[in-house]
Amino acid sequence: MGCNRSWHIFPLFLLLISPVHGLTSYDPESLDALIHQYAMKAQAKKRTGTSLKVPLPANFSGMEVSVVRLRSGHFWERGANFTSFFIPPRITPFPFVKRLSLVYQNLGNWSTLYYRVPDYSLVAPVVGFMAYDASNLSALGNEALKFNVLGDPISIKFPNLMTKGDPKLLKCVELGPDGLVHFRNITNENTCMTQGDGHFSVAVKNSDVDKNNRVWIWWVIGFGAAILALVLLGVIGFTTFKLVRSERFREMEAESENGVALDTTSIGRSKIPSSSMVRTQPTLEQDYVP
Ligand SMILES: *[C@@H]1O[C@H](CO)[C@@H](O)[C@H](O)[C@H]1NC(C)=O
Ligand SMILES: *[C@@H]1O[C@H](CO)[C@@H](O)[C@H](O)[C@H]1NC(C)=O
Ligand SMILES: *[C@@H]1O[C@H](CO)[C@@H](O)[C@H](O)[C@H]1NC(C)=O
Ligand SMILES: *[C@@H]1O[C@H](CO)[C@@H](O)[C@H](O)[C@H]1NC(C)=O
Ligand SMILES: *[C@@H]1O[C@H](CO)[C@@H](O)[C@H](O)[C@H]1NC(C)=O
Repeated sequence: MGCNRSWHIFPLFLLLISPVHGLTSYDPESLDALIHQYAMKAQAKKRTGTSLKVPLPANFSGMEVSVVRLRSGHFWERGANFTSFFIPPRITPFPFVKRLSLVYQNLGNWSTLYYRVPDYSLVAPVVGFMAYDASNLSALGNEALKFNVLGDPISIKFPNLMTKGDPKLLKCVELGPDGLVHFRNITNENTCMTQGDGHFSVAVKNSDVDKNNRVWIWWVIGFGAAILALVLLGVIGFTTFKLVRSERFREMEAESENGVALDTTSIGRSKIPSSSMVRTQPTLEQDYVP
């Protein structure tokens, strides 16, 4: 009874303290897989060397994806430019493939839903590019390729940074899988450098005011959790108390059934309660009669 009720409360308690992230489905890796699928569809049977805008489902509006297929030899000699990425010559895909497809993405207003950097705020959209084996003209490879950079690094321009505060606090961030973040210095031209593909943005460290707000929020969350824990402890305590009490009660009942409370005298084979004490002597009412 009481015990069952406390187990109904327990999962609710876990739900309340689990991080919000666990309840949403903004997973960057499944987004990459989805973008890869749409890029593959868009590119099928299209000419090598032409950059295409990849149409995404309507519920992703605000994201931009494009794809271009290149011969590796051409890529090595000329590099490739698209929107904010400048890929210089002397870069080879690894493992080596005859043709490769570069899939470019700009997450726009979705950036902060998919990527977060602890203690930093993103001040530019997350942009990314991945390379896939495109040797088979009718099917894009599933494995993302890596790069061997023998010349200059790849540069990424962030022209319209929404900076608030000191621009010296700006950091290039490379956003890896599983929340892994690499920080690099940004150049004077708001450019970030990289040696490979991936997802990139610019972040600024949160001020102490923001941090204090965060601390305050954690206090509130901690306080709420403490209250919940107290309630839970109360329920468990109350249940235990009731259990123990009913156990005691049963013991007492059992004891009284055994007749420990009263002396018994055996008469034949049956027990009858008897008292060794002399009861209050009956008094005669007549004594008081005048
Ligand atoms: C958009 O719709 C597709 C199916 O059409 C679904 O797989 C995807 O999860 C949806 N994305 C969002 C962000 O709602
Ligand atoms: C991003 O902006 C587009 C309109 O430009 C809107 O349709 C979409 O819902 C927005 N997405 C998010 C996650 O705010
Ligand atoms: C890429 O852009 C740079 C600088 O604007 C330019 O020098 C280079 O020729 C471009 N490369 C290609 C392949 O368009
Ligand atoms: C290219 O991809 C198509 C579709 O997946 C497949 O049927 C075909 O065998 C592939 N060709 C080569 C040479 O791998
Ligand atoms: C990044 O910038 C800071 C200060 O602006 C400097 O001390 C540091 O050496 C720089 N790091 C690199 C790798 O250039």
